[in-house]
Formats: sequence, C-alpha cells, structure tokens
Amino acid sequence: MTPPVVRPRRLRTTPALRRMVAETAVRPGQLVLPLFVREGISAPVPVSSMPGVVQHSRSSLLKAAHEAASLGLGGLMLFGIPESKDATGSGGIDPAGILNLAITDVVAEVGDALTVMSDLCLDEFTDHGHCGVLTPDGRVDNDRTLAAYAQMALAQAESGVDMVGPSGMMDGQVGVVRAALDAAEHQDVGILAYSAKYASAFFGPFREAVSSSLIGDRRTYQQDPANALEGVREALLDVEQGADVVMVKPALGYLDVIRRVRDAVTVPVAAYNVSGEYAMVEAAAANGWIDREPAIVEALTSIHRAGADVILTYWAAEAARLLDR
Ligand code: PBG
Repeated sequence: MTPPVVRPRRLRTTPALRRMVAETAVRPGQLVLPLFVREGISAPVPVSSMPGVVQHSRSSLLKAAHEAASLGLGGLMLFGIPESKDATGSGGIDPAGILNLAITDVVAEVGDALTVMSDLCLDEFTDHGHCGVLTPDGRVDNDRTLAAYAQMALAQAESGVDMVGPSGMMDGQVGVVRAALDAAEHQDVGILAYSAKYASAFFGPFREAVSSSLIGDRRTYQQDPANALEGVREALLDVEQGADVVMVKPALGYLDVIRRVRDAVTVPVAAYNVSGEYAMVEAAAANGWIDREPAIVEALTSIHRAGADVILTYWAAEAARLLDR
C-alpha cells in the first residue's frame, strides 16, 4: 500500500491548529433570545417541556433582558401571554396588552444595547389559538388578519419596539406591516419576517410555553415540510415587500432551506432553533444520553454553517458563555 500523500488529518492535530482553520464560529452578537412574559404572575413559572425556560413576570423579564445585554447578545424576541383571550386576539392590539407593556419595559431597561423584537401574531391572544381571525366557517381569514396585523404592528411600534416579527404566515403580511409602519412615521422600525415557517411538530413545547389554545393544526397557512423551493419563494416575496431580515423556521431539520434562502437573497437570514429542538437535547442530556454543552454548540454551529447570520435560540445566554471559552 502506498501511504497517502494528502493528509487532511494534519490540520486536525492540535486544538490551536483546529481553531486556526475553523471555517465557522458563532458570535454571541448573532444570537437572539426568545423570552415569554405572562400577564398576572408575580414570579416566573417554569415551562416543564423546556427545562430552564420560564414564563416571566414583568419584573423577572427585565432581569433576563439585562443579563442578555451584559452577555453581548444580538437581541430579544418577546412573546406575550395574556390573562384572557378572545376571538379576534384584541389583547395583542391593546396598548395596555401584556406584550406591548413588556416592550416598553424592556426598551427602557436595555435601550440600544439589544435589538428588541416582538412576535407579531395573534395566536397567543386568540381563544381558538389560530394565528389570525376566522371566517364564519372556521377558516383563517387571510385579509382580515392582515388588517389586524397592521394595527398590532402600530401598537408594538408605539411601545418602542426595534423590529417586529410577523410570524403568522398570512400572504402579504410583510407588505401590509411595512405600509402601516411607514404611514405612521415608523420608517425605522424593522421587519424580521418569518418567511419560510413550516407546520412543524417541533413547535410542540412552545405551545405549552405560551399556554396555547390551539386545537388542530396550522397546515392551511404554515408550509408543508416537504417543500424547500416554496421556502425560497416565500423569502423572495418577503424581501420584495420590504423585509429587513428573512427567517427559516425550524432550523435543524431545515438546514437545506437555510442554505437555499441564503443563496437566493441579499438580506440577512435568520433561523429559529425551535422549542422541540431545544427540548430534545435537554431531555437526552437529562437522561445522560448526550453531552449537553458540546451538543448545544454543535447545533448552533451547524445552523450558522448552513447559512444563518442570526440565530434565535433558547440557549442564547448560555451559548454566549460557552462560545466565550
Ligand atoms: C407563532 C409562533 C410559534 C412559534 C414562534 N411563533 C408557534 C406556532 O407557529 O405554532 C414556535 C417557536 C418554537 O417552537 O420555539 N406565534
């Protein structure tokens, strides 16, 4: 046997050499921490399916925001959990609704140290749990929902948000939100568009986190996991309508979609490392079946390598510490 002349292993010999030739490294500044704030509680409530994640009270939310800023994270994505819900999700539009109050609180706490973003969707506020308003026969009414999103965007902008995150997968949502913001002189409020959002089983634990009322599924508006090209189409449409950042969600099962979108657009691409992806690693680690910290870093590195410039992850704060080592 002739010994090999070319030896890729040579570049893997020492930690210093591996560090020197690493192609990809996740920076804490690229990470966005999703946070849940629940109306009417005075202490954080753990989310059992997401060990380490809580529903915050208004005051514990501020501590988490402050910590995120001191770790040098890129931003926060806020989700509100109201005490009462109705058919039209009016709590999301009410300036005194929990999410809008939390935006004001957090912006006052962290100022420009973090990009403060908010979920722009009705599902946390509707008693049926869908992302929009319903027709009399129970379907999600795209265009009436758009009108509600425009109002919700204005409420969030008035509360001081830096970027809104339309996540409801209604056709035309980015254009309507952009027009509403611009008409009210909120040209500087950005849009992080949930562009390629799939009807995924990996959102399961999130439904507990937001005390979701959903019965059934979202397959008439979120995408079929079988489709990648359609994800590119959605991202291109959102860029056309004025999205500042486009997002693929979930992340780990959709690395190919992240790559395709990255190659198709010239705006930053975000990916959402979702609740089920978090829960799987946490559950396996709790059982001693997986080495937790390397698994976290590997997951985030993979998402970044696939093409995500920004990563939303429940591990953001911890990962910032791990990546610092
Ligand atoms: C909808 C929304 C969802 C998530 C983020 N925004 C749930 C859904 O579409 O059913 C899921 C996030 C996660 O699973 O971590 N407002």
